Amino acid sequence: MKVYLDNAATTPMLPQVVDAMLPFMCEHFGNPSSSHSFGRKTKTAIEQSRRAIAARLHCPPSSICFTSGGTEADNLALYAAVEHQGCRRILTLPSEHSAVIKTAERYGQTGGATCALIPMDDTGHVNLSALDELLADGPKTLVSVMHGNNEVGLIQDLNAIGSVCRTHGALFHSDTVQTMGHYPLDLSVLPVDFATCSAHKIHGPKGIGFLYVREGLKVGALILGGSQERAMRGGTENLIGIVGLAEAIKLAFDGHEEHEKHVRALKRRMVEGLVKSIPGIQFNVQSDRDYALYTVLNVSFPPHRKNGMLMFLLDLEGVACSGGSACSSGSPRPSHVLEALNCHDPKRVALRFSFSRLTTEAEIDYTVEACARILGHLTQVITPEENRHRES
Ligand SMILES: Cc1ncc(COP(=O)(O)O)c(C=O)c1O
Repeated sequence: MKVYLDNAATTPMLPQVVDAMLPFMCEHFGNPSSSHSFGRKTKTAIEQSRRAIAARLHCPPSSICFTSGGTEADNLALYAAVEHQGCRRILTLPSEHSAVIKTAERYGQTGGATCALIPMDDTGHVNLSALDELLADGPKTLVSVMHGNNEVGLIQDLNAIGSVCRTHGALFHSDTVQTMGHYPLDLSVLPVDFATCSAHKIHGPKGIGFLYVREGLKVGALILGGSQERAMRGGTENLIGIVGLAEAIKLAFDGHEEHEKHVRALKRRMVEGLVKSIPGIQFNVQSDRDYALYTVLNVSFPPHRKNGMLMFLLDLEGVACSGGSACSSGSPRPSHVLEALNCHDPKRVALRFSFSRLTTEAEIDYTVEACARILGHLTQVITPEENRHRES
């Protein structure tokens, strides 16, 4: 059996998304900047996609700036704040995605803006009174805090953080890559100035996403070369990707309640299965709770001689998940997120399992059994024949 539980890394494209994109590969190929009918056709497709996305997020279409994905959108938000909005300080969390951390660090090194970390409470959430104190003093500031953490599923309260920012005239960027399309974000009421989306996390194509920019905020281009995207991003638009992104957003929003119910039940099944079959199992940053991202479960496996190989052994069993630590030049480095949240325990191993609307109960059961079997907690061994039977 092949089980894909790494949906926070990327998701398979849905057939409807592919179908929506196909006509724009051969049939409608004009450069959207061309004024002839070929160009007008594709320009119209881009603007229709922008309008469809904006309608679902309750924001003006002009607030959507298409980018090559979440990383570029994060970079653009920080760039816009520093270079065009006069922010001289960036406040962020140590558990942010590296698209934010590394960009903030670069501004710190080049002197564009100072960077500082926002204190967190012991659950990993922004300490709102500390943020309030920090913002009461100092230069114009950009606060960048992600909505749902990609590794541990911790959800930050964007309303509360945004309202502290508004009180002090600070700008607020949220990396919403792991929540856009999974939660019904309404940008007409959410107090954010910038928000980031990536299509491939919601069954859309890779290499496309957008930055939401609150109406009225002036943003110049990080990528120079043309006046596309209202001069916010130069370069011929990724027409095929944009059409796919719009379709992915439509499918995500239309089926949201049903998907959420389905995935929540699967996650609960996996938590219960693991707790029942592996003594000492724990879940990092309470990712097993209902208030965490329903798509992400970060499991802390108890000390075991096979721990170092667990992800690899699961892969051999057909189960794809992701490690809480990245391997560079052969030496495992602890995840910066787990370290920031004080969850790194060298004796245990952390693995992230992440789900999608396409995940099935049978896949969850198989994964729980595979974990238990590898760690020697399962007496009933599944034979290759049984496995073949399951696959058929
Ligand atoms: C929270 C978060 N932000 C940003 C990104 C980067 O998005 P992309 O792969 O579209 O550049 C990711 C993807 O891993 C993510 O999980």
